[in-house]
Amino acid sequence: MTILGIETSCDETSAAVIEGDKNTVRMKSNITASSLGLHAETGGIIPESAAREQLKYILPVIKEALQKAFDTPDTLDTLKKIDAIAVTYGPGLIGSLLVGVETAKTFSYVLRKPLIPINHMIGHIYATFIDQTTAIEFPLIALVVSGGHTDLLLMKNHGDFQLLGGTRDDAAGECFDKCARLLGYTYPGGPKISQLALKGDPKAFAFPRPMIGSHDYNFSFSGLKTAFLNTTRQHFSIKKTGWQQVILDNELSKKDEQTVYDLCASLQKAIVDVLVKKTIKAAKEHNVKTILLSGGVSANDLLRETFQNESVNSSLQFFAPPKSLSTDNGAMIASAAFYNYKPVNWKEITADPELYFEPAK
Ligand code: KG4
Ligand code: ZN
Repeated sequence: MTILGIETSCDETSAAVIEGDKNTVRMKSNITASSLGLHAETGGIIPESAAREQLKYILPVIKEALQKAFDTPDTLDTLKKIDAIAVTYGPGLIGSLLVGVETAKTFSYVLRKPLIPINHMIGHIYATFIDQTTAIEFPLIALVVSGGHTDLLLMKNHGDFQLLGGTRDDAAGECFDKCARLLGYTYPGGPKISQLALKGDPKAFAFPRPMIGSHDYNFSFSGLKTAFLNTTRQHFSIKKTGWQQVILDNELSKKDEQTVYDLCASLQKAIVDVLVKKTIKAAKEHNVKTILLSGGVSANDLLRETFQNESVNSSLQFFAPPKSLSTDNGAMIASAAFYNYKPVNWKEITADPELYFEPAK
């Protein structure tokens, strides 16, 4: 079965074609356009600007995905070879979601092809199944860590999700992003923090590990963000307060540079410690043998390495998507649709910015 996947929940506009057969999904193309450059000046995503950009990108991105998948410039011919269309219908920014959802509905209506609405967070989980050569065995514990969510799930089979816990305040990705913003770096902050952390000492600052020992599977990262702000203040003069405007003095001495590296390394270690400890605990308590990591933060090297090592120590099998599929993409949406094939009439699909772990409407 050949599925066209469309993803526009945040700032990316992505389309992909996958080929699903029995229990495997092969990626034939995955094209993503980002409006990140546009947001560099403001330091964050402006929803309306993102949606306006996505309107420009959506058709060229779909066209390129189809042409690449079938290796032909004849887009009309490629559309005949698609069996179904999958689209993210939530959670996300309403304007952005509408671009993908309305485009997918139009394709479904005009081409008379089945349409499968996909929850973005479930999409992330299915990035790990793409071009996977080792069988992923159920039951498993899935940790989905993105810019807006930190969710821990027990997954007993395809489509069978039990939410064990989530973040009470900021998501792990948001913590990376806001702390990076404090240091003067624009969205996404996670890659920048992890790059600076390479030269830092993770033990330099004793940041808290919020809720690491709590008896539930919830997370909290806002206290860690505040600790990072307070520690940064002890070392640097901060020009303005508030997450949106705070920047450091531009001219850092060598010693100051090292302090920034140490702050980043210590922050990253605190986030990783909490995520790994609680996920392994969930795996043991629910007696599962598999851990599956996904979401944008799963691109983080330290997080992947720590999970890898801790999984070996606990006799667990660890899976994560290739780094190129950790952040938002259309292929994961098409993959989720293949394993959860529940077409819905296009008239009944509406974008849902607040969607959580609910069955598809
Ligand atoms: O899943 P995603 O692409 O978009 C959402 O659904 O939110 O995740 C984006 C998040 C951002 O917070 C970004 O800073 C984080 O993923 N991220 C990382 C890394 N790459 C992306 N965080 C830590 N280390 C990274 N290498
Ligand atoms: Zn995402």
